[in-house]
Amino acid sequence: MANIVMLGPPGCGKGTQAEKLSKEFGFPQISTGNILRHAIEVGTKYGLKAKAAMDCGELVSDEVVDGIIEERLTHDDCKNGFILDGFPRDLTQAQALEGFAPIDFVFEIRVNDEVLIERLGERRVCDCGHTYHNKFNPPKFAGVCNECGGKLYQRDDDKKETIKHRLEVYHQNTEPLIEFYRKLGKLTEIGGSQDLDSIYSEIRGCI
Ligand code: AP5
Ligand code: MG
Ligand code: ZN
Repeated sequence: MANIVMLGPPGCGKGTQAEKLSKEFGFPQISTGNILRHAIEVGTKYGLKAKAAMDCGELVSDEVVDGIIEERLTHDDCKNGFILDGFPRDLTQAQALEGFAPIDFVFEIRVNDEVLIERLGERRVCDCGHTYHNKFNPPKFAGVCNECGGKLYQRDDDKKETIKHRLEVYHQNTEPLIEFYRKLGKLTEIGGSQDLDSIYSEIRGCI
């Protein structure tokens, strides 16, 4: 049983590491970013509400996101544990989460802003949820997903100006969660400038 939160700025590798953990341990990876992008694509009511905020790199309202997570965590696949990727993102969300599903481990992946900008600028994603990097984690065939053969593309919010704003929002709204979880004794800091596999073995060793 392990309820896990991946915490860190845009591009630190939350999604990449959560996917590896999910594959090995069988806990579902729950990415609020992916859930919201899917809702936008199929045009649900909350998808429409979320789109404007996401396009400019702002946070979607706590009300919408808390509701999504609270509902998702009632699913059967969460009963032995789960990995939250992109939630919580401010103190209101973190406090709500402790109320409905107390967390065991918070992994804070620490990377400086210059490295993040390089990672996000060359990131390519697939609709199946798989993520690549043109230089650090390239697909076998350029532009094509290894897992499903789908066409890779750049996320709308991975444009230079939006990346900058997402980083500001992180420092302002999300960084205070580091102290919040440290005080609860749940925080483990991970040096995120290492390669993918070194980061993974550090995280894995803590669970
Ligand atoms: P979300 O989708 O969560 O985006 P994010 O937090 O900005 O994080 P990213 O997905 O960009 O980065 P990541 O840490 O997952 O890095 P990745 O593994 O891809 O959220 C998007 C938006 O949705 C938000 O802006 C907001 O509007 C809304 N939202 C979501 N959750 C919300 C919430 N709770 N409340 C309110 N609003 C919410 O890695 C990045 C790249 O680097 C990849 O190309 C990867 O291959 C590469 N890479 C990874 N690790 C390494 C490494 N060690 N070395 C070299 N390259 C690496
Ligand atoms: Mg992600
Ligand atoms: Zn794919």
